[in-house]
Amino acid sequence: MISPKGLIYQTRNTLELLETCPGDYPLVVQLYGSEPLVISKAMSILLDHGFRFFDLNCGCSVKKVAKTGSGAALLKNPDLIIELALIMSDAAGPGRAGIKIRLGWNNESQVYLELAERLSDSGIGWITLHPRTAGQLFSGAARWEALRRLKKATRIPIIASGDLFTAEDALKCVRQTGVDNVMFARGALNNPSIFEQYINLRKKNFRADYDRSNLRDMCLKMIYYYQKYYPSQKGILKMRTVLPRMIREISGAKELRKEIIMCKDWENIQKAVARIC
Ligand SMILES: Cc1cc2nc3c(=O)[nH]c(=O)nc-3n(C[C@H](O)[C@H](O)[C@H](O)COP(=O)(O)O)c2cc1C
Repeated sequence: MISPKGLIYQTRNTLELLETCPGDYPLVVQLYGSEPLVISKAMSILLDHGFRFFDLNCGCSVKKVAKTGSGAALLKNPDLIIELALIMSDAAGPGRAGIKIRLGWNNESQVYLELAERLSDSGIGWITLHPRTAGQLFSGAARWEALRRLKKATRIPIIASGDLFTAEDALKCVRQTGVDNVMFARGALNNPSIFEQYINLRKKNFRADYDRSNLRDMCLKMIYYYQKYYPSQKGILKMRTVLPRMIREISGAKELRKEIIMCKDWENIQKAVARIC
């Protein structure tokens, strides 16, 4: 997710978020914003830079984003969502821009079905629904029933988000609701193999079991890439939040977590992770 203003003003953080490599294809750049002219300008910059798929964030409830009228705050103004989505879709071409939404700003003002109906035949490529309201943040259970209702109501491909912590959760969600596909979030932070596990489960009905040596190798891979792209202290701080999530289910996780969050250099991080065996 990037800020279109950050892109227009070429801030370092935004440019860093856009760094990519051919293996990332197909890559979707998600924008958050609420000003049609700004979104339009950002789209032409992104297209000039070779990006081809785009998403409008209408689901982020983080205060910093929502208080500017962007993210989930857009759900209070469906007309504006339609205007922004059409700007993005017209610029990108049919099927190349989508939106990510929640049910509505609150329970009393759910707009997800209205948006799907109004965007039918607009060229919008997909709708991702996180079936909670903005006010719920992450509380309560994701309401998969709403995903089923949305899928039934439209021909636009639907992507499910919400409480998909394992590959099995995702498959269950697809089967229960009929959605076209899923988006992993916290599940992927806990287990970056979740994508591969889900693909295997969905296509081949096969679930590889990952043991501690797989986990260790994955953690070492993370360390390699974080050190490569964030060699400074920033990378070490990131590791101290990324790795504890990944090891949370192994026995001895508590002690290992304590050790990782005390690490001040790459060598010690590597030594701590090498103990997963
Ligand atoms: C750390 C974190 C960062 C997220 N960043 C984004 C984001 O940039 N764009 C977005 O649309 N959703 C973002 N989300 C929301 C997720 O896409 C997802 O809708 C939500 O976490 C519910 O799914 P889950 O229960 O599987 O985590 C983020 C969630 C988390 C936990």
